[in-house]
Parts: sequence; structure tokens; C-alpha cells
Amino acid sequence: MSAATAFQGQDVPASLFSDFAPPEAYRPHLLGGTLWVVDGVGPPVAFLAALIHGDRLHIDELDVLREHQGRGIGRRLLAHAIDHARARGLARLSLTTFRAIAWNAPFYASLGFVEWDPRDAPECIRKALAKEAAFGLKDRCAMRLEL
Ligand SMILES: CC(C)(COP(=O)(O)OP(=O)(O)OC[C@H]1O[C@@H](n2cnc3c(N)ncnc32)[C@H](O)[C@@H]1OP(=O)(O)O)[C@@H](O)C(=O)NCCC(=O)NCCS
Repeated sequence: MSAATAFQGQDVPASLFSDFAPPEAYRPHLLGGTLWVVDGVGPPVAFLAALIHGDRLHIDELDVLREHQGRGIGRRLLAHAIDHARARGLARLSLTTFRAIAWNAPFYASLGFVEWDPRDAPECIRKALAKEAAFGLKDRCAMRLEL
């Protein structure tokens, strides 16, 4: 997806620009009612895929097409997911992201997310961070938003 080209020039592995999850990977999110897509005239402009784990909504993916980035779509999608989690009575949201890239951790922090020490986070979050490290992603962190 063109969203990943936002990372060009950053210290990320080349595979980040070619290894995308197939559409089927988002079937559980679709079935769970926690996949939100922003439609455009052509292909979808943006999507947010999340899954509920107990009392937590975990965001697996948030992408906005490169040419539509920086127009507030990502912020609105995330606000929608937060509203959804609150309406469902969940306790928190979580995600993993790049700590120092402006449109990653600092963006989430602007919505109230705080870094989640992996030692205090659930096992699946620790596993996700380990998988990302094995994939060659550096300086990743987990974040959570308490509702
Ligand atoms: C992250 C992403 C989903 C944000 O969506 P977006 O529609 O571009 O973001 P918004 O326009 O709502 O902006 C949200 C904030 O991100 C930051 N931001 C967005 N684009 C930025 C850029 N090019 N440079 C610096 N900051 C940027 C700003 O802090 C902005 O807040 P502001 O509008 O109050 O200044 C989108 O940039 C994207 O798809 N990036 C590539 C994939 C990715 O990083 N996904 C998230 C992985 S955890």
C-alpha cells in the first residue's frame, strides 16, 4: 500500500515497502466489526483494523494512502476507534509503533496514548514486539490508552 512510502528515508527494512498483509489477514477484524474503511472514488483511502482482546481494543493496522496523508483522516479514524472502544465499555486501547517517527508514537501521544512497558503488558504484546524486532523493525514500542 502506498501508505508505507511515508517511511522512505527512515531507518526501516526494505521489506516494509513490499511485505503487506493480504486482505484475508483482516477477515477476523471484519467479522469482529472492528475494521473501518474510508472510501474514496477509487480504492479505499484509509483503514483501521483492530481486534478486541478481553477488555482491550488492539489496533493492528492504521494506514492512509500516501496522497491523502496529513489531512486529518488518520486522526479521525483513530478517534472513531476510541469512541467505539468506549461505547463497548472496554478499559483501554493498545498498539505497537515506531517510537521516534512523528506520525507514529508522537501522533498517538497527542491522543493520550502512553508508552506501555513490555514488562507490564500482556504476553501477546511482548510477542508482537519480538516479532517486529525479528522482522528488522527498530525502536518500536507498545502504547496504551486508558479509557
Ligand atoms: C500514521 C497515519 C495513519 C496518520 O494518518 P494521517 O491521515 O496522515 O494523519 P493526520 O492527518 O490525521 O495527522 C495526524 C498527526 O500525525 C502527524 N503527522 C501526519 N503526517 C505527518 C508528517 N508527514 N510529518 C510529521 N507529522 C505528521 C501530525 O502530528 C498530525 O497531527 P496534526 O494534524 O495535529 O499536526 C498515516 O500517516 C500513514 O498511513 N502512515 C504510514 C503508515 C503508518 O505509519 N501507520 C501507522 C503505523 S503504527
